[in-house]
Amino acid sequence: MVGSNSDWEFQVKSQIKRRYARQALEDNFRPNSATRMKELGYSQDMISLLPDELQGAFSGCGCPISDLTFAGNEVVIDLGCGAGIDGFIASKLVPSGVVISVDFTFEMLKILQNHAQGTPVNVLASDVESLPLRSGIADYAISNAVFNLTPNKDMAYREMHRILKPRGRIALCDLVCNGELPREILEDPLAHTTSLGGVVDEDKMRSALEAAGFVEIKIKNHFQFSVVVAVMITAQRKGSN
Ligand SMILES: C[S@@+](CC[C@H](N)C(=O)[O-])C[C@H]1O[C@@H](n2cnc3c(N)ncnc32)[C@H](O)[C@@H]1O
Repeated sequence: MVGSNSDWEFQVKSQIKRRYARQALEDNFRPNSATRMKELGYSQDMISLLPDELQGAFSGCGCPISDLTFAGNEVVIDLGCGAGIDGFIASKLVPSGVVISVDFTFEMLKILQNHAQGTPVNVLASDVESLPLRSGIADYAISNAVFNLTPNKDMAYREMHRILKPRGRIALCDLVCNGELPREILEDPLAHTTSLGGVVDEDKMRSALEAAGFVEIKIKNHFQFSVVVAVMITAQRKGSN
């Protein structure tokens, strides 16, 4: 490989940002998003909470908030929020709480920003591998189709762990593979930007989450998603610091 690992990571992230910026600017999202969202576990009530523009910009692979219960005052962080669908729905469930929706593609955040006024949603431009947030602030971290894209999953998982309160929970929808990915994907230099090149298997994902400090890790709701499998991952930060 030419250059250092971090050069490679920088290039991968630049490609990812370019891809999602283009998608946001060209409004190039999957059609019939409401039907897709229902297939992936969103209720009609959840979908009805969304302004049309947000609903039409769904790019997830599951419904992370379906696994959480809300008292109404939680701090929820949506990591890699895109146009912000999950955080926006969560904001309706935490009227006296706070939602922080994080993404490193400004063009995606701009879509959310258009609808965030008057809601508990705060938009934050940041890489999920290095969050400008204090430790121990969040009750829940949610994420949808993002960690498969991150070149340094260990760092991203450690950051997610750091910002959670003791006993804080995660609900992530992500992609995993069963064994080797097809050759054409592994050999595609742009595979990382198409959500597939960074996909790992369940054992690797579980070990990385354990190494970051998570307990009670469950990987469930398997759903075939092209050549990979969409899953829901839930876990908890231990009870004391
Ligand atoms: C497949 S889209 C999912 C968007 C959203 N979660 C949803 O379900 O519609 C992936 C998003 O992750 C963001 N992303 C990827 N890697 C990231 C990173 N390292 N830090 C912050 N955002 C990232 C991209 O900019 C993009 O908006």
